[in-house]
Amino acid sequence: MRLVKLIANLGYGSRKEIQMAIRNGWVTDKQGNRLKADSKTAFDDILFDDEPLDPAPGVVILMHKPEGYTCSIKDQGQLVYDLLPDRYRMRKPVLSTIGRLDKETSGALIFTDDGTFLHKVISPKSEVPKIYEVTLDRPLKGDEVELFASGGMMLESEVKPLKPAELEVLDDTHARLTLHEGRYHQVRRMFAAAGNHVTELSRSRIGSLGLEGLAEGQWKVLTEDDKALIFA
Ligand code: URA
Repeated sequence: MRLVKLIANLGYGSRKEIQMAIRNGWVTDKQGNRLKADSKTAFDDILFDDEPLDPAPGVVILMHKPEGYTCSIKDQGQLVYDLLPDRYRMRKPVLSTIGRLDKETSGALIFTDDGTFLHKVISPKSEVPKIYEVTLDRPLKGDEVELFASGGMMLESEVKPLKPAELEVLDDTHARLTLHEGRYHQVRRMFAAAGNHVTELSRSRIGSLGLEGLAEGQWKVLTEDDKALIFA
């Protein structure tokens, strides 16, 4: 791909602006040589304004989403994209989230521009479990573990029963729930159906990939090893 298109697609500016940046000598290789629009420099050797380029297309990002941020590219209020550099919104192919977390849910959220990877994560065939840490308004009654594991639980206005889910009771009002599917507001609706109310919700893991070392609001580009953890 031509240098201008490549850099424009990463969101650094319009093609015109990138042509100008090249003419102004802002695009160089690591040795400081100015690049031209038709230069065939390896991606990792390209600097824009003395900085390495953002990750090439095919990127996968893990964010520790804070509460209060909406999983949307355009919406009112604080958006998860506000936590990434501005130009990430302009990338082509588009960087989208793999599934969503509610505005009031925190935790592990993955972004990618790789459609094949996205489908692999959400495909029922991959059976990627998602693990949620739940705080409840009222003490657990004692029948929730069995109810959630039954495979027969129906949520209001749905026609298919939920797949069995594993609930680990931590104490009266705290539990860890492992889901093997992703229905709308699923965790909150499951506890509502069990006569309770979720007051705090956080996704701690997607497969075996956790948030170790990532504070709320922070994010990182996943390595191949990190990506493999999702399916481990
Ligand atoms: N279940 C919910 O209820 N909310 C989320 O954000 C994720 C799962």
